[in-house]
Amino acid sequence: MATNRTFTMIKPDAVADGHSGAIIKMIEEAGFRIVSMKKTLLTNARAGEFYAVHAGRPFYGELCDYMSSGAIIPMILEKDNAVADFRLLVGATDPAKADEGTIRKLFAKSIGANAIHGSDSDENAAIEGSFFFGGLEQF
Ligand code: RTP
Ligand code: MG
Repeated sequence: MATNRTFTMIKPDAVADGHSGAIIKMIEEAGFRIVSMKKTLLTNARAGEFYAVHAGRPFYGELCDYMSSGAIIPMILEKDNAVADFRLLVGATDPAKADEGTIRKLFAKSIGANAIHGSDSDENAAIEGSFFFGGLEQF
């Protein structure tokens, strides 16, 4: 079932470097409404749970270490065609391949420390939103 919501989180590098305000501004200016938002931390184990789909990949340990290395800002966002439009705003996983004007082109440091997450399907957007907000705190 197609929905008009997606899930994102600003990753530890972008939060630590003070880019969260600029990133949130880009998200709102692109027409997304912030449904839920908080600043929080993931333990290594919970980061592993979030990225369980990548368990076994060579970068999995590094990814869990990185995602639990500092504060993150998870958000549920609303807009028509939210999942696909947000992936366009985020840009390619590797910032060297990200288009001009995308969040990763502007703020990502590397393929690992790439500033922001965006859900890849409506189904995962719902699962990932519940992971952080549990169906509550949505306005
Ligand atoms: P995300 O899930 O965080 O929005 O990123 P994505 O869809 O663009 O990329 P995905 O394939 O889902 O990978 C998840 C995250 O794992 C890290 N990664 N590192 N070192 C590597 O080769 C590598 N590949 C992926 C990145 O932080 C990526 O965002
Ligand atoms: Mg992904």
